[in-house]
Amino acid sequence: MTTIDHLGIAVKSLDQALKFYRDQLGLNVSLRETVEHEKVNVAMLPLGEPRIELLEPTTQDSVIGKFIEKRGEGLHHVAIRVPDLVASVEKLKSSGARLLNEPRQGAGGHLYVFVHPSSTGGVLLELIQA
Ligand code: CO
Repeated sequence: MTTIDHLGIAVKSLDQALKFYRDQLGLNVSLRETVEHEKVNVAMLPLGEPRIELLEPTTQDSVIGKFIEKRGEGLHHVAIRVPDLVASVEKLKSSGARLLNEPRQGAGGHLYVFVHPSSTGGVLLELIQA
C-alpha cells in the first residue's frame, strides 16, 4: 500500500462540477476520458499525488447513474494504489474479501478492482495499480 490514489466523486454533470473544482478551487484537469464499460465520463484533478476523480454517468442505468438516483451526488469510492494488483487480489480472495470484479482497465489504462463495502467497513474501496 503506497498512497491514496484518488477519491471518486459521483456528479450529475462534469461541466457543472468543474466550475467548482477547476474554476473556483483552482485544480487542474490532468485527464478527461470516457470509460465505455463503466458508462462514465471521467475527469482527474491532481491534489499533489492523490487525485480527485469526477464521475459523470453516460446513462441512467449505469452504476454511477443508479448511485446518483438513489443517494444523490457525492463521494462514491476511495482508491488505494497498490504495487501489484494481481498479488493483492489473490491475497484478498484467499482471505475471503468480497471483490466486485476481476482486474480490468479503467481511466488512464490503469488496472483496478473494487472491493465490496461489506468487506471494508462500509466504504466502496478501489485498488488500483498505477
Ligand atoms: Co476510481
